[in-house]
Amino acid sequence: MSQLAIEGGTKAVTLTSPPWPVVGEAEINAVAEAMRNSPSSWEYLCSAAGGGPTADFERAFADFMGAEHAMCTSGGGPSLHIAVMAAGVEAGDEVIVSPYTWGQSVSCVLQQNAIPIFADIDPNTYALDAASIEACVSPYTKAIVVVHLYGHPADMDGINAVARKHGLKVIEDCAQATGAKYKGRRVGTLGDFGCFSIGDGKQLIGGEGGVLLTNDSRAYELANAFGQHPARQSSQVHDPELKRLTDSLIYTYRIHPLAAVIAQEQIPHLDAWNAERRANHTRLWDGLAGIPGISPVTVEPDCEHVYHMGSPTFVPEQVEGVSRATYVKALGAEGVPIGMGYVGRPIHLRPRIQEKEYFFGKGYPWTCAQREVTYAVGDCPVAEARCADTELTLGGGPAWRGDQSALVDQILDAFEKVTGSLDALRGLEA
Ligand SMILES: Cc1ncc(COP(=O)(O)O)c(C=O)c1O
Repeated sequence: MSQLAIEGGTKAVTLTSPPWPVVGEAEINAVAEAMRNSPSSWEYLCSAAGGGPTADFERAFADFMGAEHAMCTSGGGPSLHIAVMAAGVEAGDEVIVSPYTWGQSVSCVLQQNAIPIFADIDPNTYALDAASIEACVSPYTKAIVVVHLYGHPADMDGINAVARKHGLKVIEDCAQATGAKYKGRRVGTLGDFGCFSIGDGKQLIGGEGGVLLTNDSRAYELANAFGQHPARQSSQVHDPELKRLTDSLIYTYRIHPLAAVIAQEQIPHLDAWNAERRANHTRLWDGLAGIPGISPVTVEPDCEHVYHMGSPTFVPEQVEGVSRATYVKALGAEGVPIGMGYVGRPIHLRPRIQEKEYFFGKGYPWTCAQREVTYAVGDCPVAEARCADTELTLGGGPAWRGDQSALVDQILDAFEKVTGSLDALRGLEA
């Protein structure tokens, strides 16, 4: 067995993942054309009124997804905040959220002075577990924020069943899952609102920006009334009761039209790119079967994963005496794109939640709570154990378009090399 790179040997992986985000000639030409057109209409440079390229992208995105309405926003986080507002969540209301996600899946609730209640995750999808959600429902619960984490769809049938039973709104955080499918339908169209990011590192990119989807016309009008410039509200809010209230007393979470122009060029390619991402990652997971210390990513039946990230699981009992940190370090030294995990600390155990001090001031939003709410170690055992001991990140995420089989094969060689030298790794522990 050749010497490990961490001990001065030669790296097993010499190829590198392609860069992401990148744009091609089509996006460059589309942006150039939009800028040349800008003297003809302010909507090439400003999305306040919601027309021009912004409206074109919204129609194309909604059609691609199979949704009635799309609204461009300034990001995935803003899409979530608008959805929480349009779902009717007010100060002191409770919203069930995931402890295992990017913070903005939860800050959208805190920003509304509402109370996050953390349900646990499913050990296979890492998204919210329907039974755990049900156990968190109280008389004050208004909504659920479901995250299709890493690009793998959540169990939407189970989650929607709980929501229907208790009359709750379902907000899908699809920031990492553009194009993913659950039982043949795109995520983001399965709940009341779908919230997307087209920021860097996502499957479809505009540079920055987001999209909100809904099939409910009133919810769409509400989203406009809460999150868009009055110039747009005037044409898109029709309900007389709401129209009466339209105003600039709002957040203007609007996109730069050029981001919409870039993203629109990519829509026709998205399914093919996601299929390539799936093929490359599947080759990796198949090749890792039987490699000690790692349990590859699995995909639930009827789900299409779109790989914002690959998050396999460290299996310490298969590599006794080797810590996750050393395993990762040794593979990283070989050139493997591997990390210690993504979430790190579950959201309910982070300081601003533990100390109930979100706004660094008077204890809001918890001062608005309608009952005593606590956050403790042990609330979400699956998420906590995964963060503490087993989560890993591996693979190329959205960058793995095209055929990356040569790179994947080098990565697999690196795993063979490192796990063939477990004694050397145990020595490194010492
Ligand atoms: C799960 C999740 N939700 C929300 C967001 C926020 O998206 P944005 O950065 O576009 O605001 C992200 C960003 O990475 C995310 O991963």
